Amino acid sequence: LANMPRRRGALIVFEGVDRSGKSTQTALLTQNLSSHQIPSILRRFPDRTSTTGALISSYLSSTSEPELSDEAIHLLFSANRWEAVKELEDALLNGTTVIVDRYAYSGVAYTAAKGLDLNWCKGPDKGLLTPDLVIYMEIPIEVAATRGGFGGERYEKIEFQEKVRGCFKQLKEQDPTWRVIDADRPVEEIQKDIVGTVLEVIERVKEMPIGHDLWS
Ligand code: TMP
Ligand code: MG
Repeated sequence: LANMPRRRGALIVFEGVDRSGKSTQTALLTQNLSSHQIPSILRRFPDRTSTTGALISSYLSSTSEPELSDEAIHLLFSANRWEAVKELEDALLNGTTVIVDRYAYSGVAYTAAKGLDLNWCKGPDKGLLTPDLVIYMEIPIEVAATRGGFGGERYEKIEFQEKVRGCFKQLKEQDPTWRVIDADRPVEEIQKDIVGTVLEVIERVKEMPIGHDLWS
């Protein structure tokens, strides 16, 4: 028994601009995995419940001065992920698939969209748990913007989201683990594609070690 390879869970990341459907699809995915008897948990970044998360949430909801510099908020978003590593790793080792709504790619894309150097932006997240799959929800900004309209948060402006989308595109070109999903389709149709891909990945990585080498 000691020599039996132990199944681990897969780390599945969802990325995309605001209103691309990540939250809807991640919630549906946990339900569908559960109906396949596959244990999973759903987490999101920023995790607004932690100490760094509270700072981030207040930054996102206000535009008042004085405020955090672009570099400082970038590091807080990264710290917010580093805080969660142990919990995520323990879950994966227990055989639980971990689904995350945004990860370090959002960290880089949103800060680089402000004009900061893309490679500098990657620095703080180097060595984070490596996703087994990144699902990128591809959608034109005009379409995303009509989905209930952007809310009041800091980055929810069409011109800025266009820049974020451009930065995601650069990251995608550098990374073969991305799977681009056409997110401008009916919810159930998108989910069907996602479930198929995710089940394949869970099966493929179950005996592989967990990676700790994002961007390193
Ligand atoms: P949310 O809408 O998914 O809760 O994310 C809040 C905003 O934070 C969203 O506009 C994307 C942005 N963001 C960053 O700027 N950097 C990050 O590292 C993450 C995870 C999100
Ligand atoms: Mg949002």
